[in-house]
Order: sequence, then structure tokens, then C-alpha cells
Amino acid sequence: MEDKKQWISKADRPVLDGNIQYHIRCKPGDIADIVLLPGDPDRVPQMSKTWDEFKEVGRNREHVTHTGKIRGVDISACSTGAGGGSTASAMEGLASIGAKTFIRVGTTSAIQSHIKPGELIISSSAVRYDGTSENYVNLNYPAVADYEVVAALVEACERLGYTYHVGITATAASFFCGQNRDGFGGYRQSWFEDRYEDLKAANVVNYEMEAATVLTLSSLFKIKAGAIFTVIGNRETNEFSYDGIEKSITASTEAATILKEWDRLKKSKNKTYWYPSLTK
Ligand code: URA
Repeated sequence: MEDKKQWISKADRPVLDGNIQYHIRCKPGDIADIVLLPGDPDRVPQMSKTWDEFKEVGRNREHVTHTGKIRGVDISACSTGAGGGSTASAMEGLASIGAKTFIRVGTTSAIQSHIKPGELIISSSAVRYDGTSENYVNLNYPAVADYEVVAALVEACERLGYTYHVGITATAASFFCGQNRDGFGGYRQSWFEDRYEDLKAANVVNYEMEAATVLTLSSLFKIKAGAIFTVIGNRETNEFSYDGIEKSITASTEAATILKEWDRLKKSKNKTYWYPSLTK
């Protein structure tokens, strides 16, 4: 049983003694300013074992947090769980203890036939069917990725020789009915198919469950954010293959080191924004 005396009893923003954040159980100083956000808690050790060093700094519910270093760059990973609600809770906690950049790292199904399982998708923006971000801001507000994070993810994929696509993601609050799959017992509504066909016609490239929450809340919190996915399914060809998960992990970690290098360049040249010729 948890010692209840360690709680600060404020219902409007509960934290534990020492400013330990309620959902993620991390405190100031526990995380790096760049945080990778996988959904699955098991993916956090999969990420941190590729770093030069790491330690576990938090574990509660679906949120496992590791912090470490790769090639001299401080980095953290915190699992969000599936869907917008737990993702927003993790982001609230991480923002409160100093996160400055989020990279959502996950799996996805493509809805365009030319994108194959094992390839990568980098989100330029996301359609907000996430069901969570609308609790923060009107649906007319865009879920848009930070251009530096998108460019760093592209640079990472190029360096690593990965096949990738950049495009608009659709974030659904449900893996099944929200993504034009039957519910239990073949349950369907007529609009499942219409929404899917409309997204496809509008050149949306993939379905997943957290990007719109990450991108929208990051803009509201003045945090840079992007998202990268390993394609495990294609809804047009009906292929599903759980290969290549490590590619989105490797690319996101590489992008974190690239962003740090670009930050150093900006500072040395007294620039606020990175642009391609700054790197020459
Ligand atoms: N994640 C999703 O949300 N949908 C898929 O089809 C695959 C991964």
C-alpha cells in the first residue's frame, strides 16, 4: 500500500511530495528536455537499451520512464499508453518537469496502397479524431508538427537509409470502430466506411491513436513535437506484419541527436530558427 502521507492533498492539480507528477511519478531533474513517447511500456526498455547509458526514473500504470544518454545527448522515453487520455496525462506531467521536445514513436496502418509494411511514416500534421485534444482547444485549431522535428526525422531516415513517407496522419480514439474495423460481433455504423474513404481521398496516409493529441497539446504548451511510425498494416491491401518496429525507434533517437546539433548551431550563429543552409 502506498503511504498516503506522501500526497499533497490538492485536487486541482495533484502531485506527490517533491513535485512528483501524479501519473508518471517523475520529478524535476528526472527527464531530459527531449522525450520520446511510445505507447507501449515495453517499448521504453527497447529504446533505452540502444542508448549508451540509462536508468528507470518512473513507473506507474501505463507510464514507464527511462532517462539516459546517447553520444553525449540527454534523452528520455516515457510510455503514454494507448489513446489520447493517458497520452495527455503523461504530457501534462512531462511538461510540468521541463520537457521541451516530444517525439511520438509508434506503429500504424497505412490507408494508401503504395505505403508498405516495414516502411516509415513521418506526420506533417494530424486529423483530430483523437477525442482528447478537443477538451483543450476548439477543433478548428490545427494538430501540426514542428517543422524542425519533421526535418530532423527526415534527416535521420536519410542517414539510416530507411524508406519513409511524410504526410497527414489521422488519429482515431478507437483501434476498431474508429479505424473502419468491425466492432465485436461485426458491429458497424454506415459512417465508418465514409470517414475512411473521405480521409483516403483527402490524401491522409495513415491511422493511429496518439499523434493529434501530442501535436495539438505541444503547440498549446509551446513544446516542439513530431511523430514517426513503423507501418505494420496496410488497410487497402489488408496486409499486417509486425516487422521493423526497431526502425522508428532508431530514427527517433537519431533525430533527437540531430535536433541537439541544430540547437547548438542556432546558438552559435545567434539564430532562433533552423534552416537548411545553417548546417552547411
Ligand atoms: N495502430 C493503430 O492505431 N492502428 C493500426 O492499424 C496499427 C497500429
